[in-house]
Amino acid sequence: MSKKIYGLFAVIIAVATVLSACGPAATPTPAASAGGQVEVFSWWVGPGEADGLAAMVKIFEAQYPNEKFVNAAVAGGAGTNAQAVLATRLAAGDPPDSWQAHAGMATFAYANAKQIQPLDDFYAKNNLNSVFPKSLLGLISIDGHPYSVPVNIHRSNVMWYNPKVLQAAGVTIPSGGFASWSDFFAACDKIKAAGKTCLSLGPEGFTAMHLWENVMIGTLGADKWSGLWTTPATTDWNGADVKQGLANFATALSYTNSDASTLSDWQPASKMVADGDAAFNIMGDWAYGYFANPAPNGLALKPHTDFDWTPTPGTQNIFVFLSDSFVLPVGNKNPQGTLDWLTVAASKAGQEAFNPLKGSICARTDCDQALFSEYSQNAAKDWASNAIVGSLTHEVVSNPAWKTQIDTDLKLFLASAHDAAAQATFQSALAADCKTKGAGACP
Ligand code: GAL
Repeated sequence: MSKKIYGLFAVIIAVATVLSACGPAATPTPAASAGGQVEVFSWWVGPGEADGLAAMVKIFEAQYPNEKFVNAAVAGGAGTNAQAVLATRLAAGDPPDSWQAHAGMATFAYANAKQIQPLDDFYAKNNLNSVFPKSLLGLISIDGHPYSVPVNIHRSNVMWYNPKVLQAAGVTIPSGGFASWSDFFAACDKIKAAGKTCLSLGPEGFTAMHLWENVMIGTLGADKWSGLWTTPATTDWNGADVKQGLANFATALSYTNSDASTLSDWQPASKMVADGDAAFNIMGDWAYGYFANPAPNGLALKPHTDFDWTPTPGTQNIFVFLSDSFVLPVGNKNPQGTLDWLTVAASKAGQEAFNPLKGSICARTDCDQALFSEYSQNAAKDWASNAIVGSLTHEVVSNPAWKTQIDTDLKLFLASAHDAAAQATFQSALAADCKTKGAGACP
């Protein structure tokens, strides 16, 4: 694993330690399985998202025939709708038996709000401390106590493309990917001249922030991106690098489809590439599942022929990551059922069934690579060798309040003319967010 990852995790662990109000209790030992229903909450319901979950549920149902799995998934990529529904339920004291929580700041927020329980005994019983990478354990643990069970690692900095559209426009991607956003924009000019959308985009909700962070990382590089989120911030939100990143974002938007805000979710934007209406789409590798999985959920496309992939511009040798995990709530109705679900989610069999369909790689380090696509096998190699940085959109690097504020400012920018004045306003707002919602030590 890259050394660079440790800097990021050291900072996040330090933040988690500070946020933690008091030491956790050990994992409760519930009574022997009484059966009953296990309500699991996620946002894996759309095409390409549901297949992996279904595969894991199949294992759960075979292993625990006396438990009834209740799928409480709420549609909307990146949890845009699900998280609001979950927050309402948690506020009402009605938690599902388990829910999807991103490793990193999202999991820390649930732990610090005392909404989830530590899983020390569960980890010990299932030998999990040795099967997950230490770096990942740091992103779900507070003071060494694990609070969730990671099922996967997703890569968010992937640019999917239609090889036929590129060929028709005379665009060739340099080996290893576009070195910079300006190189990419030169390719976009050719695609545009050929009458196609260069970069397809979905509705605001999360796809614009997903694009924004990829432009920022590709402009700033791994270290400066991570420096935006450290305490104290080592990258100046008011500086020239961020300014250039925002200018690149404005230019990137100028190459996107004008109907982005009317699309229902990320899938229709990815489908524009599959259909040959757009050349490129930037999306996490859950899009692999959507492109390659069999119908009716997947598009059953052939890799390299119908679709292909490259790192987002400027991010060669950088792996922007996020990880989905599941939690044991405080006050849930069927704690044994939850532990049964977590047992499957943590297991080699569960992760080997889930991840090849989800487009992600295992959180565990011992999965059989032969079960995975060429794409995922390469992603696993990159995860082991690239500089690793965390995603903002998928809740690794910032606390939820900060992310919400950035999203508000991003929406204002999207509604603007995207010109130099709007970029300056956006940058000032981002710098102010860092001061008030961020590490509290921003320039
Ligand atoms: C992410 C999540 C992924 C995938 C994606 C699109 O936040 O971690 O597993 O579901 O959203 O919905």
